[in-house]
Amino acid sequence: MNKQRVLSGIRANGRLHLGNYLGAVKGMLELQDDPRYETFYMVADLHSINVPYDPKTFSKAVRDVILDYLAAGLDPEKSTIFIQSSVYEHVELSYLFSTVITVARMQHLPTFKEKVKSYPENVNMALLYYPVLMAADILVYGASLVPVGIDQEPHLEVAREIAGKMNERFGLKLPEPQRFATAGEYIPSLTGEGKMAKSVEGSSILLTDDLETIQKRLASVPTDSGVGESVPAEGGVATLLKFVELFIGNERTEELRDEYTTTGIRYGELKKELAEAIYAELKPIQERRAELEADTEKVDRIIKEGAEKAKKVAAETLGQVKRAMGLL
Ligand code: TRP
Repeated sequence: MNKQRVLSGIRANGRLHLGNYLGAVKGMLELQDDPRYETFYMVADLHSINVPYDPKTFSKAVRDVILDYLAAGLDPEKSTIFIQSSVYEHVELSYLFSTVITVARMQHLPTFKEKVKSYPENVNMALLYYPVLMAADILVYGASLVPVGIDQEPHLEVAREIAGKMNERFGLKLPEPQRFATAGEYIPSLTGEGKMAKSVEGSSILLTDDLETIQKRLASVPTDSGVGESVPAEGGVATLLKFVELFIGNERTEELRDEYTTTGIRYGELKKELAEAIYAELKPIQERRAELEADTEKVDRIIKEGAEKAKKVAAETLGQVKRAMGLL
């Protein structure tokens, strides 16, 4: 039986936070452990250099994501774990894809517009090209399932469009990839506004945070008096309740919802309980990470073997596409 392929990636623009963990990594783990799937997980280093970054520390940042992956439970025995730029077929395929999608389509993407707003001095070609490269990341493995957060849906739409157009014009059989959603597909920011993001100060809890740091970060979540007619759907209180749901459970969330409309929630105690629950989940990951950090050789080997395995599959797809396009 042919296994369905899965691909996902995370950029290397900062340490992994709970948003990455719950929205992407948890889905990656679930699919890796399901024998119906063949899983490819990469660090999207090429997607990280379209914003200002430090080339001196970059290779360490990339390796940090690999370590976070392994510590969180991605298993090189079950998944192909690699660094995007080490499989150059992605880039070549993306150029071929760029011939079937318009500049206007790329300019209208919400993610592109956001970047233009945050870096008006740095609207480079790579930002515009981002979704085309992402489509190639996925389709070079013929992956039909992509565990990522909900913010990536517009990019998956582009990947489906590209696959459709390539199939129509060149008689290929590329899949139209779907997103694999997790319960934590949208993790709100600690600031109570928008999603948890690497680029927003005070918005995240990192996978490497200790209990004290988590407590401090939760302490800054804005709250209210703790009582009211109905539980707020947005803002800091909603953020706290989302975390309770994900780290403690639905029962406790329901209890707190009741308290809000009756006796009132005591946020000091709630934040303490929540910090402990979050830390309990992160602690084993941190312990594994420390072990891996000490074993340079093992990690080097995983990265090298991952690239070799990925390259075999990628080269085959690239060859098919080039033949179909009359380039071979
Ligand atoms: N754009 C994704 C993000 O910001 C990272 C990414 C790059 C990715 N290529 C991918 C995710 C391919 C899934 C599949 O998180």
